[in-house]
Parts: sequence; C-alpha cells; structure tokens
Amino acid sequence: MNKIVNILLAIGSVALVYGCSAPRAEIPVSSPGQPLALRVDASQVIAPIAPTMYGIFFEDINFAIDGGLYAELVKNRSFEFDKPLRGWKFLKDEGLGARALPISTSNPRNSRFMRIQINDPGTGVGLMNEGFRGMGIKKGIPHDFSIQVKGFEGNVSAIRIELADSLGAILAESRITGINENWQTLETTLTPSKTEAKAVMNIWFEGVGSVDIDMVSLFPTDTWKGRKKGLRADLVELLADLNPGFLRFPGGCIVEGFDLSQRYQWKNTVGDIDDRVVTINRWNFEFDHRPAPDYYQSFGVGFYEYFLLAEDLDAEPMPIINCGMACQFNTGELVPLDELEPYIQDALDLIEFANGSIDTKWGKLRADMGHPEPFNLKMLGIGNEQWGPQYIERYVPMVEAVKKSYPEMQIIAATGSDGSIFPNGEEEIKYLWEQYQKLQPEIVDEHFYRNPDWFRENASWYDDYDRDGPKLFVGEYASQSVGVASPDNKNNWETALSEAAFMTGLERNAEVVQMTSYAPLFAHAEGWQWTPDLIWFNNLDAYGTANYYVQKMFSNNAGTHVLPLTYEGEPVTGQKNLYASAAKDEETNELILKVVNAADVAQEGSFSIEGIESLKKNGQLQILSSQDLSAFNTFDQTSKISPRESTFETDGNGLSITLEPYSFYIIRVGFEQLP
Ligand code: AHR
Repeated sequence: MNKIVNILLAIGSVALVYGCSAPRAEIPVSSPGQPLALRVDASQVIAPIAPTMYGIFFEDINFAIDGGLYAELVKNRSFEFDKPLRGWKFLKDEGLGARALPISTSNPRNSRFMRIQINDPGTGVGLMNEGFRGMGIKKGIPHDFSIQVKGFEGNVSAIRIELADSLGAILAESRITGINENWQTLETTLTPSKTEAKAVMNIWFEGVGSVDIDMVSLFPTDTWKGRKKGLRADLVELLADLNPGFLRFPGGCIVEGFDLSQRYQWKNTVGDIDDRVVTINRWNFEFDHRPAPDYYQSFGVGFYEYFLLAEDLDAEPMPIINCGMACQFNTGELVPLDELEPYIQDALDLIEFANGSIDTKWGKLRADMGHPEPFNLKMLGIGNEQWGPQYIERYVPMVEAVKKSYPEMQIIAATGSDGSIFPNGEEEIKYLWEQYQKLQPEIVDEHFYRNPDWFRENASWYDDYDRDGPKLFVGEYASQSVGVASPDNKNNWETALSEAAFMTGLERNAEVVQMTSYAPLFAHAEGWQWTPDLIWFNNLDAYGTANYYVQKMFSNNAGTHVLPLTYEGEPVTGQKNLYASAAKDEETNELILKVVNAADVAQEGSFSIEGIESLKKNGQLQILSSQDLSAFNTFDQTSKISPRESTFETDGNGLSITLEPYSFYIIRVGFEQLP
C-alpha cells in the first residue's frame, strides 16, 4: 500500500460524531424595567469592517448543485453513476426484443454511454428519466433538450421526447431526426402546457436496430442571466440578495472525500461539460438515516462556474484545495509526504487557472471556456477541517510552494472542526494555534456547530483573540436546535436569534474577524442530508429561513467601521439579554446599530450617540421578530419570520427604541460629522 490510512481516525464516522445533542438552557426571562442607557461613541473607530465580512459557504450537500442550483433536470445524463440506469427506467413491452446496454469506453473522462438495442419495438421502446425527485417544469417556458446520439446498426432514425406529469398526462412533446452513424448532438425545445413539480421525461426510439446515446439533457431557458444550460435563477437571486463579500467553495467535507479517491479534484470539473468526471457525492452515503444513493456530482457546476458565480455576485472567490488528507471523520486517509507533489501542483495550477495569462496552460483553458480576463483570485484555503501534525506536515510544503510562486496569495489555514465534535477537539485546536503562532497564515478558519445557548453565551468569543495574529474566518457556523446535524433540527427563530446575538460579537471584533459564513447553504426539501440549512428549495420554489434573514440583514447593513457601543461601560454581550454592535458607514454618513433583544419582554433601548455634530431627524428600522421561538418558515409560509420595516425619530443626539421581545433590529440613521 503506498498510502497510509490513519486507523485511529478511520474508526470515527461523521454519523457517529454528529447527531449528538448537548444540554440546553432556555432563554432567561427578564422583567421590563427602566430604559437601558446605551452609549455609542462615533469618534472612536475600533476597526474597519472588511468588505468580505459576510459571505457564502457553498458545498454540494443536500442536492445543492445537482438537483438544485444547476438547472439540469436529467439525473445521470451520461449513465456514469455506479449503476448505469439509476434514475432511468427502461420502457418496453414485456417479453419483446429490446434492451438497454451500458457500454464502457477507454476514456476515463467519459467512461460510459448507453446502447439501446431494438429487435422488436412492440408498442414502443424508450427510457424514462425521473429527474431529481421529479422534474420541476414550468408552463410556457421553453426547455432545451439535447442528446448525443449515434446510430450503431439498423434504422433507428428518430427520437420522440415527452414531458409527462405524475399521472402520465403529456405536457410537452417533440421529435428529433437526423441520426446517422456518427456521434452528434441533436437538439429540440419543449414548452410545457402546465407547471409541474414532479414531471418525468420519456424518450422513445423509432425504428429497429441499435442506437448509442449519451449526455441526455433538459434545461429550462429561464436560467440565471439567461445562460444556456445555466443555473436556477431563483436560487442565485437568493444568494445575490445576501450581497456576499466572498464565496467559499467547493466545501466542506466534499473537498476531502470519504477517502482520497473521492476527494474533490478541480481539474476533473473544468473543460467540456461531457469530459467532466462524474464522481460519487460523499453525502450519498454519509448518514444512514438520510441515504441518497442517487447523489453524484456531474460537475456541470465545476470550478469555472464557481469562479463565474463569485464574479456575478461581486464576491471574492475562495477555493479550498485538498492537501493530501481525506475526511478525518471518515477514513482520514493520508497521502505520503513524498507523494504530495501532485496535490501541490493542483494548487499552483489552480492559481494559474484563475489568474494566469492566456499564454499559460491553465489560463488558456479559462480563456477557451469563455473568460480570458483573470478571476483575480486572492486567497486559497489549504484543506477543510484538518487537524493533527499530519495536517501541518502537509500544510507547510504546500504553502511554501504557493508563496514561492505567488507571494501575495493569502493562505487560509484550518483548525479542524468545532472542538466539541471531534476527538480531543479542544486539544487539537490548541495544538494548531501553537503552530500558527510560528507559521503565521494570513487567515485561520474556525467552525461552530453548537446549540442556541452557546451562540448567545459566546458573543464575546473573539474579544481576547490576539489583534496581531492571523485574521479569523468563521467559515462555518449554525445553531443546532436539537444536536449537531440531527435530522430533527429546525431553522427556528431561537436558532436565528441566537446567531444574530453571536454575530454582533463577530462584528464587534472586526479587527480580527474578517470573514464569516453560515453552513450549510442549501437544502432540497426531499433530497437533504443535513439540517439546519440557510435556504430550502424544491423543484419549483425556494425560501429563505429566519437564519437567512439574519444573514441578509447583517450583510446588507455592514457599514464600513465598527464603533464602541457600551452599557455601563461594557460591550453589550448579553446584559439584560441584549446583544449589540455599532458601525458607521463612511460612504453614506450613517450610523448602523444591530441590536438583539433575547428577552421574552419588550425593553427600551435608549442610545446616546457621542462624537458627532448631530443625528438626522428620521431613521429607518428593520425588525425581525417572533414571539414563538420554535416558529420557522415553510413553503406555505415563506415569510412567517421575515424583516418588517419601520421608521423612528431621533432627538438629534440620541434615539430610543422599544425593542420587541425576541427581536433583532437594524437601526439606521444619518448623521452630521463634527466640524
Ligand atoms: O456543513 C456541513 C459540514 O460540516 C461540512 O462539510 C464540514 O466542513 C462540516 O463538518
């Protein structure tokens, strides 16, 4: 064996570690009392708020890409899942002469196609594709069908395509001809007569003989920016509304793989769409309670599309690269140090792909794919949730090589996962931080999957971090209502409110915390593995959770500089169940307060604003609240917990707001600077 398997870590599995619940306390009750005197000093800037402060972490989990963002409606379009006909049903008369025969090729990037042999067509021979828990098709929207096809023998001359609803009624139909003995792509368009969330697609073959098919595809045309074979517009719009400062991709554990053979290899995800190497999705089999045997990565969204998405969103791209380690919750397989070179080369080539001139090998590929301009990559993550000396041993040569060629590249170092959920977590994190004192990566990535109490109780988490050390990336966090990744977790108001409380602490510490992102991002209502998630979708619709609105309110009201905000001389980190941060926006001359009232009673916040000439008379409020901590949004009630807008008046030097019970406020008001 030329690979070392870390046996100790192999015993653990994510399923064993996740799903455990921690003891919980209720949000304490407080009595309404005197107005709380809060003080903001606008003349004392604590730190600039990085434009990257609020971003997105995108991993293909919960059918986030195939079956989600990627608008392809055909599952297993190239017959390259382990079971070639998974997602398909062969349609034929019983007992008659027809079969579907998977054919292997010698091309590892396009390893299989399907041969349809028809000796006796009976009442018809065809294939039905079930889509991703059905296909969501829309009335009046043209859908582009395409197929790679080659006549092998006989006279199969035409293919008839039908879109049918769940009862079999035909909603659209088309026919293509022109099959010959060469591989070619044939196309047609179908426009459904009805909207249907659970449609299927039938393709019927006319004639007798054998025909070879591959890359059977159906896309709606109402994609993001109208791009052919593109992304679901409604889902990208939800991301765009977050106004993200960065896009971290592609994971997450998916970077690492269950073992190294399943790791994310970006080179397999670029170039011609039919040459991308279909790979099992590691979330396919991770959780026994949520098996997804039909979850694969077609890489229709690969690294080029990720970079493009980041550009569309005006977000800094943040790729994470495998550093020769498989997921330490699974096999923890390690590549031997003397075999690390290809992993290092992958990192260097990735930077060339993103930023290199079109005269370079990988820069040319980017240009050939449609983007001659560089993507302006500035940061690179080395591994996802890695820990132990094995990580440092791999991290060091990787970073040395990157820095040698690209000294400006900012390195993101891992700190394992949330110390509470992996073996000896706190000790491992301590060890890594000791290493980082010496190695000084620009950025260190920390993850938190804890219960709501923890998020409220740790609004001061970053108060004592070294201001002169590496900057912090809170790369994954989400409050778990039951236990880590428990299938019973809900995106309820208590989790969202508690995250808002924690986030005031992140913002107060903008001096060290420069990037933050919730995790996971997306979940298909029927195809998910992990909950809670920021955005839920089905084949036709999508909605933001209460947690989504918290993220959106922070991100769209970030401001440019943090200011001190105090209660009795101290930062507001839970006294009287209040949590708060203050910022100013230098571009608009506005003061922006973010205030969480986690008490079950209304409280009056009386804010005196110092260090300014005067406040404008009128200000704006955004309020997110619910009296029911267990409430959450659903497809039927997508806006149950969503922001309301209101206004208030100042007295020129301060403002008073009655904060509803269990509420999160954005308070915005213009001001005049001191002369
Ligand atoms: O967000 C889900 C998973 O949680 C990520 O893949 C991993 O980084 C973390 O353990």
